[in-house]
Amino acid sequence: SLDIVRSKADLRARVRYWRDQGLKVAFVPTMGALHDGHLALVTAGLDIADRVVASVFVNPTQFGPNEDFSRYPRQEERDAQLLDQAGCALLFAPTVDEMYPQGFASKVSVAGESEGLCGGARPGHFDGVATVVTKLLLQAQAHVALFGEKDWQQLTVIRRLVTDLDIPVEVVGVPTVREADGLAMSSRNAYLSAEDRKVAPMLHRSLQAVAEGLKAGKGSEELCHLAAADLLATGFASVDYVEVRDALTLAPMAHLTGPARILAAARLGATRLIDNIGVEP
Ligand code: PAJ
Repeated sequence: SLDIVRSKADLRARVRYWRDQGLKVAFVPTMGALHDGHLALVTAGLDIADRVVASVFVNPTQFGPNEDFSRYPRQEERDAQLLDQAGCALLFAPTVDEMYPQGFASKVSVAGESEGLCGGARPGHFDGVATVVTKLLLQAQAHVALFGEKDWQQLTVIRRLVTDLDIPVEVVGVPTVREADGLAMSSRNAYLSAEDRKVAPMLHRSLQAVAEGLKAGKGSEELCHLAAADLLATGFASVDYVEVRDALTLAPMAHLTGPARILAAARLGATRLIDNIGVEP
C-alpha cells in the first residue's frame, strides 16, 4: 500500500533501499489533481520497473504572476487513493519550503527548446519547470522518469536538460490520454463550464484537420491560420498559437518533410488548454 513522505531525505532513503535490493524504480512527477492521464504514467512505470514513486507538488515557480497557482486544484487525499489503486508504492508530497528553502537562488534554463510555443506565451514557465524537474530527478534518483506527450514541449525540454546536465535517468514519454470526444485529459478541464466543455474537443479536431492538410501537401502556415480562425469561430476566446514543428527538435516546419508535431494552445473563457498530435509523411 502507498506510503507518503514529505522530505527529500526520506524520499532518497526509500528509493535507495529499493535500489540496494536490485529493484528498478520509476518516477512520475505531477502537480496532483490526478486523472487517468497521470495514472497512465504510473501504469507505464509499472510495466518497466518494480516500484513506482509519484510526486505531487504544485510548483510555484512555473506559474506566472497572473496565472492559476493559488486556485490550482489541491486534493491530496483523493490523489493518494488513486495512486494506491494504480499500484504506486510511494508518494512524495513536499511543502514549498522543503523544495525552496530560504536563500534558494539557482535556476535551470534550457535555451532553444523553451523558446516559442508555450515558452512565448508563458515567459519563465519552462525555467520553473526545468528547475523543479532537475531537483525532483536528483532527489528521487530513480532509474526511469515518465512524462506525458500531452506536454510535448515540456517533454522536449526535459529530454534536453537530462542530456545536457548528465542526470542519470532514462526519460520515457507516454501517449496522451483523451476523453471519448478527443479532449486531452487535464487537471484544468475541471475549470470549464458545461458550455465550454462542449466546445473544448474542437482543439483536438483542429489539430487533426491540420494533419490532414499537411498530408495532402498543403503548407503549415495556411493550415495553422485556418485552424486558429476555426477555433475563434467556434467559441475560443483567444488562440496563443497553432504551429507545426519538427517532432524531435521543435524547429519550425513549413511542409510535411519529416516526423512533425502539430501543437496548439487556446483559451476557452479563462481556461488555457493545450494539445498536440504527431503526423508523419
Ligand atoms: P502535471 O500537469 O500534473 O502533469 C504531470 C504529468 O502528467 C506530465 O508529464 C504530463 O505531461 C502528464 N499528463 C498530463 N495530462 C496527461 C494526459 N492527458 N495524458 C498523458 N499524460 C498526461 O506537467 C506537470 O504536472 C509539471 O509541469 C511537472 C512536470 C510535474 C513539473 O512541475
